Amino acid sequence: NNDKLIKVTFNKANGDKITAEGKKGDSLLDVIINNNLDFDGYGACEGTLTCSTCHVILDSKDYDALPDKPSDEELDMLDLAYNLTDTSRLGCQIILEEKLDGLEVQVPATVNDARYN
Ligand code: FES
Repeated sequence: NNDKLIKVTFNKANGDKITAEGKKGDSLLDVIINNNLDFDGYGACEGTLTCSTCHVILDSKDYDALPDKPSDEELDMLDLAYNLTDTSRLGCQIILEEKLDGLEVQVPATVNDARYN
């Protein structure tokens, strides 16, 4: 059933934990937009892989479990992200599927918009 909701928790740098739901095929950025979550500056390029503001950090277990490895374009953009880690991804490139239900990601304290570097 494609309409089953998939839960994602965003852990903000200030300690806030925000849980929201999305559908299979939604990106993490879609979840944030569709639920009107207020993450300052997040997703500035609207998923066109030009800003790096949608940076999220995963547990290594979750990072390895993601179905898609980051593309070269995503890795180039991640290089410009604030507080890059080995388990960083761009939220606009993480696409939800049922096995990701319960995913938790860290949202860095601030964003670096690669378009204005
Ligand atoms: Fe800009 Fe993801 S929203 S790179």
